[in-house]
Amino acid sequence: MVSRAPVFQFILFLSYFWLHCSSEDFLFNGFKQATDQLSLAGYTKITKDGLLQLTDDTPSILGHAFFSSPIPMIKTTKNVSEVTSFSTSFILDIITVGNAGGHGLTFAIIPSKELPGADVANFLGLLRPSNNGNISNHVFAVEFDHVMTILLNDTDDNHVGIDLNSLKSNASQEAAYYSTQTSKVDFQLESGQPMQAWIDYNGINKMLNITVAPLQIPKPSHALISYTM
Ligand SMILES: *[C@@H]1O[C@H](CO)[C@@H](O)[C@H](O)[C@H]1NC(C)=O
Ligand SMILES: *[C@@H]1O[C@H](CO)[C@@H](O)[C@H](O)[C@H]1NC(C)=O
Ligand SMILES: *[C@@H]1O[C@H](CO)[C@@H](O)[C@H](O)[C@H]1NC(C)=O
Ligand SMILES: *[C@@H]1O[C@H](CO)[C@@H](O)[C@H](O)[C@H]1NC(C)=O
Ligand SMILES: *[C@@H]1O[C@H](CO)[C@@H](O)[C@H](O)[C@H]1NC(C)=O
Repeated sequence: MVSRAPVFQFILFLSYFWLHCSSEDFLFNGFKQATDQLSLAGYTKITKDGLLQLTDDTPSILGHAFFSSPIPMIKTTKNVSEVTSFSTSFILDIITVGNAGGHGLTFAIIPSKELPGADVANFLGLLRPSNNGNISNHVFAVEFDHVMTILLNDTDDNHVGIDLNSLKSNASQEAAYYSTQTSKVDFQLESGQPMQAWIDYNGINKMLNITVAPLQIPKPSHALISYTM
């Protein structure tokens, strides 16, 4: 049994999104012109100011925005298939309405724009209890999660995690950035302040780096999470 979280209200915004890999390179600096290129579902909409608003303050809802055309992520050379290198960066903002918010959002690479039965709250609109952890999901996601769910092995209520087919993260860290190689500065995801995330995957050495920081901080040279996958 997975417990349902209590009613939470919050609003998620994206104002900028960039992705580069060998087959695709796109940038949305605001989403006003992006309607043709994105598939929106659930409560997600583009505001008149050109923000991508993933959810509004209705309790227990979800929303998705996917790039409309599939992006090839596997490259086959001489019979060897490998995941291409890619980099992405986006600016997001989590605004709480009232005195408690939940649960978070993910950046996800998945085989289909449809997520049948995806659950709200701790399943982040991505998976559901019955398929959580199934290797047939072919889901890669980076979660920005600000509610601690013990059943999903969350370590705290303010973390960034790497999710492979499961919302039990394969690696996770409390939200922070490195101001130098050794000094880590914590910050809140659910602050109402814009923050930036960078996700960089090197298909040769299979290393994935996740970096997050408040918007005014330039990209830190040391990633928050480095994970080989
Ligand atoms: C390429 O893969 C096919 C199917 O798995 C196999 O039959 C063939 O021998 C492979 N060729 C080389 C050069 O490895
Ligand atoms: C995993 O998903 C596949 C495809 O939906 C399904 O056939 C299979 O039964 C699932 N496995 C488990 C253990 O639920
Ligand atoms: C989740 O936590 C439990 C208890 O600490 C542990 O036994 C289990 O291996 C963890 N699962 C994962 C996927 O990390
Ligand atoms: C990620 O964690 C799942 C369990 O949640 C495990 O089945 C899978 O093997 C892990 N993947 C890697 C690459 O460690
Ligand atoms: C990931 O971080 C490591 C250590 O800082 C660095 O050596 C590597 O080049 C980075 N990889 C990518 C894909 O950004």
